[in-house]
Amino acid sequence: MHKLYLVMVGLPARGKSRLARRICGGLAADGFRSAIFNNGDVRRQLLGAESTLPEFYSPDNAEGRRIREEICQRNLARAREWLNREGDVAILDATNVSRTRRAFIERSLTDHPVLFLECVNEDPVLLNACIRNKTRLPEYAGYTEDEALASFVGRIGYYEAIYEPVGREQYWLCVDTMAGRILAERPCEGSPYYPAIREIVVSWWVQSLYLARHGQTEYNVQGRIGGDPPLTARGRMQAEALALHLRDQKLDWVFTSTRMRSHETAAPLLRGRYDTHVMAFKEFDEIWAGDCEGMCYSEIRETMPEVTAGRNADKYHYAYPHGESYAMLRERVRRGLQRALFLAGELPVMLVGHQAINRVILSLFLRQREEDIPYINVPQNQYYHISLTPRRKLIERISY
Ligand code: F6P
Repeated sequence: MHKLYLVMVGLPARGKSRLARRICGGLAADGFRSAIFNNGDVRRQLLGAESTLPEFYSPDNAEGRRIREEICQRNLARAREWLNREGDVAILDATNVSRTRRAFIERSLTDHPVLFLECVNEDPVLLNACIRNKTRLPEYAGYTEDEALASFVGRIGYYEAIYEPVGREQYWLCVDTMAGRILAERPCEGSPYYPAIREIVVSWWVQSLYLARHGQTEYNVQGRIGGDPPLTARGRMQAEALALHLRDQKLDWVFTSTRMRSHETAAPLLRGRYDTHVMAFKEFDEIWAGDCEGMCYSEIRETMPEVTAGRNADKYHYAYPHGESYAMLRERVRRGLQRALFLAGELPVMLVGHQAINRVILSLFLRQREEDIPYINVPQNQYYHISLTPRRKLIERISY
């Protein structure tokens, strides 16, 4: 059986290590032995704080360059030795952003094919969040947050100065890590690992997602849509019950919409969870009913019968006057979800959404027929628990 070197490429904070770990786990589930050789780990072991300074990464710093090349060579040797002894896929995790570095790797590793996997992610929200996350690494322990930020941004700048996209190498795959989309590729044909890696890259990868709808609001009681109403007493009780039900569940990330009912539902869940990250995304705001915002369904039926008729005929594609349709929601919800899952990585996530939003999220996982999506059941006393990998699909609805 062939073996493979998989070499990560990309600027810092583009999701390389996360994808490397995912590929390693995914290949293991397929019965392939893979291991990660991370240059950063070796650097931190060998050099400690000295290599945290941005100048260490300057292309003009000959000594820094020499040390980093040495670390690269050391990992190439370890990977080669491991692959020839017992492994199937050796994953080399480092920036490898210059053509010179990649040409060197191709010249050094001639016993098995070398596939370069370039990770691209220019989403400003994610980039910002990922860079902030980096400042919490132990190597920045002696820095204030602003100092760490400046130092890391300086480091990225040095890598940007020498960055050249893949293209001249023999085998490569260029991936948008947030969207899980292949942007371009020169496939490693005949390798049994190539299709497996490709599948891992493009699949939804959800370790554990709890998807709840906000509790009852006054608008819900009146059959009124949209707006920004607070929870009713019953809605607050539902929020408490959800928090109680999940009290022993680790939730590292909680995502809400920007609406009050979503925040109020998340509040009891967050009580005492001091390390939980919380983010509100506009992408998770409820379907915008345009001219019908704040109206009751009965009022719409009487005063704007064409809206009711339009929705009855094709609820998925019908857009409210000056508002949205379910079809229009799909892209923004997908973007929000991809961001949320990228940020959370392998950690458990809670998302407190809305009726239409949660239907669209579920449809992304369920491959539902379009006409059925606007009717998916999203009750206020049950949540969905979702866990998905290319080999596992778990979607359960749980009462609380
Ligand atoms: O009724 C609550 C609500 O979240 C509204 O704000 C929203 O317009 C509606 O649900 C979406 O559900 P449907 O598409 O079935 O009207």
